Amino acid sequence: MSASSAIPRGLALLRDPLLNKGIAFSLAERDALGLRGLLPPHVMTLEQQADRFMKNLRGLSGDLDKFVALNALRDRNETLFLRVVCDNIDEIQPLIYTPTVGLACQKFGDIWQRPRGLYISAGDRGHIAEVLANWPHAARLIVVTDGERILGLGDLGASGMGIPVGKLSLYAACAGVHPALCLPVMLDVGTNNPDLLKDKNYIGLRQNRLRGGEYDDFLEEFMSAAQQAFPGVLIQFEDFANHNAFRLLHRYREQACVFNDDIQGTAAVALAGVFSALRVTGGKLNDQKLLFLGAGEAATGIADLVVAAMVAQGASETDARRRIWLMDSRGLVVWARNDLAEHKLGYAHDHPPVGDFLSAIRELRPTAIIGVSAVGGTFTPEVLKTMAELNDRPIVFALSNPTSKAECSAEEAYRHTGGTALFACGSPYDPVTFDSRIFVPRQGNNSYIFPGVGLGAIASGATRITDEMFMAAARTLADLVTDADRAQGSLYPALPRIREVSCRIAVEVAKVAYQRGVSTGRQPDDVLERVRSQMFEPVYHSYLPA
Ligand code: NAI
Repeated sequence: MSASSAIPRGLALLRDPLLNKGIAFSLAERDALGLRGLLPPHVMTLEQQADRFMKNLRGLSGDLDKFVALNALRDRNETLFLRVVCDNIDEIQPLIYTPTVGLACQKFGDIWQRPRGLYISAGDRGHIAEVLANWPHAARLIVVTDGERILGLGDLGASGMGIPVGKLSLYAACAGVHPALCLPVMLDVGTNNPDLLKDKNYIGLRQNRLRGGEYDDFLEEFMSAAQQAFPGVLIQFEDFANHNAFRLLHRYREQACVFNDDIQGTAAVALAGVFSALRVTGGKLNDQKLLFLGAGEAATGIADLVVAAMVAQGASETDARRRIWLMDSRGLVVWARNDLAEHKLGYAHDHPPVGDFLSAIRELRPTAIIGVSAVGGTFTPEVLKTMAELNDRPIVFALSNPTSKAECSAEEAYRHTGGTALFACGSPYDPVTFDSRIFVPRQGNNSYIFPGVGLGAIASGATRITDEMFMAAARTLADLVTDADRAQGSLYPALPRIREVSCRIAVEVAKVAYQRGVSTGRQPDDVLERVRSQMFEPVYHSYLPA
C-alpha cells in the first residue's frame, strides 16, 4: 500500500486499516511512529501474518464465520487482507463473494460489526452531496446498489450492502485497484421485504421502497452529486431489480461512465465461455442456437452481447436475433403472449407458445442452453439427456447462484450428458470424476471481467463504458484459456491467474477507450506499462524516511 506523506502516529496508525501493519511494524518504525509498547515485542513478516491468519481461518467451521473473520481482518489491515485473498483466491473468493456473500446479506443485520462505504437513505434527499462529502478519499470507482434484487435472493434492502463491499474487494484483489479509490454505496430507498421490516436487527430504513418519480429524482440526485464529488468516477450499478436496472443503464450510459455488471459483466463472461466452448468444438458463433432459461438482466444482457458479437462476425442483426430464444417463468418468449416486459421484446419470436423447457428444447434444437433463471434444478436429467442427443458437445451453462439456485450441478451436467457437456457454472464446484475422466468445471464468474474492465477504465481515464469494451474483454478472456484447461473441460482460465487476466483485459479495454475517443487521455506508447503502473501489490512499504 502506498505510504502517505502524513502518516498518523500511535493508536491512530494501528486503527487505520489502509496503513496498519500490526505486529509487522519494524522496531525502527515503532520508535519513529510512537508505537513502542502498543504492540507485543516480536516482529513478524507479512508472510508470517498471512500464514497465521489462514491457519485460524481454516480452523473455523462455517463459511459465514469465515466471512466475518475476513471482514474483521480487512477492518484491521487491508494490506494483509488483500495479501491473503490474492494468495488464496480459489479458497477465499467464494467466502468474500458468491456464494457466501448471499448468506451474509441474508444475515447482514445479525453479523454487522463496522460500517464500510456510504449508506445514502431516502431521508438524505436534498443532502446527498453533503453525505458524499463525508467520504474521506477521492473515489475513482463506486459500486452502488439499492438492494432490490440481491443475487437470486430478491429484495434484501440495506442488507444488500454486502454486495458492493464484496465486489470492491475483488476489484482490489483481482485487478489491483487501490482500495482507497473504491467506494461501496447503498442507496437505502426502503424495502418491500416484510420479513426485514419486522426484523429487529435489520439495519435499514423501516419503510416501503420509494417508487416512480420519487425514486428517479433520488437516483438523479445521487448520480449528479457523485459525479460532482468525484469527477470522472466510474459507477457500477449492481443488483437493481429489472424494472430499474435496464432503465438506469439506458438513461446514464450515454452521459456518464457507468455500467451494470449484472447485465454487461455477466454478458461478457458468458460470451467468453461460448467463445471458449467453440474453440473445443470448432463451431462458428453464427451457427449456434442459444436457448436461455430466464429472461431477466443476465439473460438479456448476454443475448445482447452475443447478438453484437454475431454481427461483428458478419451476421445481420435480424439473423442473429433469430438464433436467440428466451424462456421466462411463463414460457417461451413469443409474440403470441401479451405479457412481455419491454426488455424481452427484442427476442420475441413468431412461434406458438411453449410452456415447458424440455418441450422448447425438443422443438428448437438449441446448441446451447444458458440457465439464468435463479431456479434450482431446472436443468433436469431429461433436459440434459436431450441436449446430449441433439448435440455431440452440448453447451450447458448453469449460471444461477447461489448454489441452491443453480439449474444443475457440475456432476449432473457431466453424468446426464455422458461427459459431453461443455459446462460452465455460476457457483463453485469441485472437480468431477466421470467415466474415469476428471473434469474441472470453472465458474463463469463476473470477477473474470469487471475488475479488468474497471482497471482499464481507470488507467485510460475512460469517460464511457461501451459494449465494444465488454466484447474485447470476452475475447481476451477466452484467448487466455489454455489447451490444458480445455483438456480437463475448463472453459475459463485458472483463478490464480486472475491478476494477469485482469491486466490483459484492462489493456484491451483501455485501447478501445483511447481509440474510440472516450478517454480523457492520449494513448501512451506502452498501454500495458500504463495499466501495470496502476496496479498495486499488497506488500508493506517502510514508513521511515528513505
Ligand atoms: P432476474 O431476476 O433479472 O431474472 C430471472 C429471470 O428468470 C426472470 O426473467 C424470470 O421470469 C425467470 N424465471 C423465474 N422462474 C423461472 C422458471 N421457473 N422458468 C424459467 N424462467 C424463470 O435475475 P438475473 O439478474 O437475470 O439473474 C438470474 C440468475 O443468474 C441469478 O441467480 C443470478 O445470481 C445469476 N447470475 C449469475 C451470474 C454469473 O454466474 N456470472 C451473473 C449474473 C447473474
